[in-house]
Amino acid sequence: MKIRVNLRGETLEFSSPVGARLLDYLQENSVPVNAACGGNGTCHKCRVRIEDGFTAISSKDREAFRESELASGWRLSCQSRPKTNLVVEVPSAETIRNRPRIAKHSDLGSYAISKDGVPFLVCDLGSTGVVVALVNRRGGAPLIEAHLLNRQVRFGADVMTRLHHAQVKGVGSLQASLLETLKSCLDALRVEVPELFAAAFSGGLFCSGNSAMTSFLLNRSIDSLAVAPFQPDSREAGERAFSELDGLVVHTLPLLAGFVGGDTVAGILAIEALAAPEPWMLVDIGTNTEIVVNNGRGELWLSSAPAGPAFEGGNISQGMRAEAGAISVARRSGNAWHLETIHNDLARGICGSGLIDLLNESVMDKLITEDGYVPGGRLEVTPEISLLADDVREFQLAKSATRTAGDLLIERAGVVPKCIYLAGTFAQNLRLDSVAGVGLLPPGIPVRVIGNASLTGVSLYAALSPENRKKFTDRLETMRRPVELALQDDFQDRFVRNLNFSST
Ligand code: FES
Repeated sequence: MKIRVNLRGETLEFSSPVGARLLDYLQENSVPVNAACGGNGTCHKCRVRIEDGFTAISSKDREAFRESELASGWRLSCQSRPKTNLVVEVPSAETIRNRPRIAKHSDLGSYAISKDGVPFLVCDLGSTGVVVALVNRRGGAPLIEAHLLNRQVRFGADVMTRLHHAQVKGVGSLQASLLETLKSCLDALRVEVPELFAAAFSGGLFCSGNSAMTSFLLNRSIDSLAVAPFQPDSREAGERAFSELDGLVVHTLPLLAGFVGGDTVAGILAIEALAAPEPWMLVDIGTNTEIVVNNGRGELWLSSAPAGPAFEGGNISQGMRAEAGAISVARRSGNAWHLETIHNDLARGICGSGLIDLLNESVMDKLITEDGYVPGGRLEVTPEISLLADDVREFQLAKSATRTAGDLLIERAGVVPKCIYLAGTFAQNLRLDSVAGVGLLPPGIPVRVIGNASLTGVSLYAALSPENRKKFTDRLETMRRPVELALQDDFQDRFVRNLNFSST
């Protein structure tokens, strides 16, 4: 059976066994379809249009599309098992961008190897976004960065969905997608700054990533990480040369606990570099939120909260990443919404910061009750964009997981932090009054947004001598006090209480 795919003006053709799942064949043939829910039929991101041929309409298709859309051929590719030759259109809005975005910093123009030294190559290996940067040898500030969506997103928006995929189909495809993402970023830097790139190449690439990303990259077994009590195969730092990256040697940071990985090790280093007064708390928000409390008595209490993709617009019916057209700021006055979108484009959906604003303002204006009830099941934001009761619920689950983890760690650490350092790309665009309003963080503690602490920290780590790296990681090893949330007696009660929208 033949499948012809029209993608961004290009036509691809491949064969597929009769009755096989269309999404699998698109992905196996490198068509980067977004499958945020991992093929469960719930995210509605894997949409395609059948231009010629036939696939039956499934019950999930009926939930995702109106009658008129079904009639014009729209289907969820994860629910389609075609039995005839097909011509399929994959709309570019549903695919994953494969060209990195480059950000140049002011120091780049004046940087000279003879005067400033050979720069480092570092990487923040996020579940959603990957950043590869060349950093200044003195001080570790970035000179130039390449940002790209992690191509693993095609196997699921959150880490648990990808681990499930790896359990069923092996780690190979997850590793290959990560290497593809890294290669695209490295190639983009090589084109932009060939001389600096060539000089930095022999020093290798220092990578900070959570436990799952590190395990995928090194092709370690994920069997113990995917099931309770969620322990990685190894917590050791890694070092490996990849032929897929032209022989580049990749150094990974050690892991601290189940889902508290090298990105948190880097985050701790970034906070120590700020000379933060102890006790302090680090909250690195993402699909998996890592939290650390340094109690100032030589203990680092750590845990991770499986927040899921809601903060990044995933699993929200009209949610999207923080891209052009995403509602990123929302205020309400005089019974009307005042919205800002990224790049001032026409509103296409809602990203995480917009979602938090919308919910906070809706609760304040009593459009939604404090326990998350949405009268009529739908809250209209614009004639085209609404929040559904399920979206509100999805956010409540994510925020309660984060808040409960924060509350519990503070209690176990036995201190009230002087400051909460809020890290992560998503955190950079948040309005702190909305964050406080929805009760995302423990109340009454000053909050400071510190940007991508994982990237800052891995740059500092790369700049340390091998002896000082070892001293630092040995110290963390003696300070670490991991807390497994699900095993805490009071976790469930607190989780249910924290579902409420409330700052206290
Ligand atoms: S609905 Fe198909 S991948 Fe989510």
